[in-house]
Order: sequence, then C-alpha cells, then structure tokens
Amino acid sequence: MRTADDEVDTLRDLLSGAEAGSTPLLPLLQAVKQRVGHVSPGAIRMVAQALNLSRAEVHGVVSFYGDLREAPVGRHVVQVCMAEACQSVGCRALMRHAAQALGVSAGTTTSDGRVHLEAVYCLGNCALGPAVRIGDRVHGAVTPARFDALIAQLGGTA
Ligand code: FES
Repeated sequence: MRTADDEVDTLRDLLSGAEAGSTPLLPLLQAVKQRVGHVSPGAIRMVAQALNLSRAEVHGVVSFYGDLREAPVGRHVVQVCMAEACQSVGCRALMRHAAQALGVSAGTTTSDGRVHLEAVYCLGNCALGPAVRIGDRVHGAVTPARFDALIAQLGGTA
C-alpha cells in the first residue's frame, strides 16, 4: 500500500529535473497522475514550487483537466458517456444499471475501493453508443450484460 512518504518520494523523483520556464506544466502533472494516481494539494504545492508558479496557477490546470483528479478514486475508473448521441441509444438506462450493479451512484467509489463510477460527456465514440471507458479503453454499444461482463473482467484487486 502506498504511503504519504512514498508519494513524496515519487514526487521528489519526478520533480528532480524540473526547471521553471522550461518544464511544461501539463505533461508534468500527467506524469504525477500516472505515477501517484492523482494530483493532491501537496503535489500541487511541490509542482508550483519546482516551476516557480503560484499554487493557484497549478490548481487551475488540475481542476480544468478533470482526469488529473485531486483525490484518489477507485482502482478502476468506469466512465459512462451521458452526452446526446449516447442518450439516443440508451445511456441513461445503462447508467442506472451500472449504478445498481456496482451499488454506487455516479461520482462515487465502491466501498471496497475497487471501482469508481462517473458520468462523462462524450468519449469520442458517438457512432457506437452507449460508450463506456474503463481505464484507457473505450467500449462501444455497451449493453447492461456487456457492462457486467466488463466489470467481471476487472477482477477483484487489480
Ligand atoms: S456522445 Fe457518447 S461518445 Fe460521444
């Protein structure tokens, strides 16, 4: 299990070569998210200090790009597209099913920390709705049965 000290060590490692004026902020924040899982207030402070930016500037970028996340979520992030094209092919019913199957509401994480369910607005897969993104993979034409199968494939702890 990752501790706060692990997080600080990872951040120090990531920021060791960062330079104000030459290290681009967004790729650095993406690297933090990839290694740590989220960009915490502490990480925002460290990044701001390393790049000689204000915390508000860094926080503004983190909050604009919702995928960066300021707090940890479940081990698997499951996004159901709720935008127009997917609405026309049943995403609302799919989201109801997803919430019921996982025992959570959109925007929350299962009590075991396994799955975080969220509504998003267009996954760029409009011709093949309802669309669901799990991790980095987008799935099209997702029925409730297929949703259950995809969740079952996640396993218990990965
Ligand atoms: S509207 Fe759902 S993927 Fe675009």
